[in-house]
Amino acid sequence: MKIKELEIKGKTFLAPLAGITNLPFRRLVKECGCAVVCSEMISAKGIFYNSVNTLTLLTSREDEKPLSVQLFGSDPESMGQAAAFVEERGEADIIDINFGCSVKKVVKQGAGVALMKEPKTSEAILKAVRKATNLPFTIKIRSGWDGSGQQAFALANIAQDAGVDAITIHPRTAGQGFKGFANWDLIQRIKETLSIPVIGNGDINCVEDAARMLAQTKCDAVMVGRAAMSNPYLLAQIEAYVASGTYKNTEPSDIFRTMERLISLYVAYFGEIHATRMLRGRLTWFVKGLPGCSAFRKELARLETSDQALDLIRTYETAGN
Ligand SMILES: Cc1cc2nc3c(=O)[nH]c(=O)nc-3n(C[C@H](O)[C@H](O)[C@H](O)COP(=O)(O)O)c2cc1C
Repeated sequence: MKIKELEIKGKTFLAPLAGITNLPFRRLVKECGCAVVCSEMISAKGIFYNSVNTLTLLTSREDEKPLSVQLFGSDPESMGQAAAFVEERGEADIIDINFGCSVKKVVKQGAGVALMKEPKTSEAILKAVRKATNLPFTIKIRSGWDGSGQQAFALANIAQDAGVDAITIHPRTAGQGFKGFANWDLIQRIKETLSIPVIGNGDINCVEDAARMLAQTKCDAVMVGRAAMSNPYLLAQIEAYVASGTYKNTEPSDIFRTMERLISLYVAYFGEIHATRMLRGRLTWFVKGLPGCSAFRKELARLETSDQALDLIRTYETAGN
């Protein structure tokens, strides 16, 4: 599959996840194996106003590439300027625009999924970004504000006409948030009407789900979000399965090595104090479902240093969990 001239080597995209797909986590997933990683959503206004916190989110590394940088906003001019700025920095391989975020704070600004009700503004944003950048340009959408999918069809076609190079569809309505099920039929129906590649997203929890989405919807690639938060190997397993029909199961020892690697990547990037604070919550996701995990998770939640985390993992593993 190609997005503009960019050859995508594989079928898996790590979803943009605010607060999660920071540089250390993207590197971890890339090391495990996947085709494309995405940044968390980044405010076009924040770029416009040179916000240090926003600009920090644009930090990348060569070894995570290709990297898709996702922007959100509601104003065509600042969206175009932000896209030009991102291209000029030279770190992004793809620019993605968020048409799917249903968080109140974002919707209130007229951004994210709010744009799916505003085809004229959406079109202006798409044209402004297309004019501002030669980078491969993608968008990520939901099914819209009702169950019909009409707004998704309309936006997908406006986007293709405006020169967008690929579309990711998370087929839940704005009101659904993450509840209920993603309506994969809509991915299939939109894929049938477009000539640009379609990336399917929503409810891929295991390798077999990904295989089913690819077969059922004929999408060109899959995007995985929540399931990768606790199993960063999942995308690599999907790649292996698509290529060979088999994959290696995740063993508890893989989980522990992954946790150790994330600790070292977090400390290197965020510094000891900030990393430890963030890891208290973050590490607990990896051990969900393992025997004796609730006591282990309580201890992780009280971490004071990253070395303590490493000790806890060693003790837990040696105890045969
Ligand atoms: C914690 C969290 C943060 C998210 N942040 C973003 C984001 O920044 N941009 C975006 O387009 N979608 C975001 N999403 C939506 C995901 O990218 C994805 O569309 C959704 O989780 C469905 O895929 P999944 O079933 O594989 O998780 C977020 C989802 C979660 C759970």
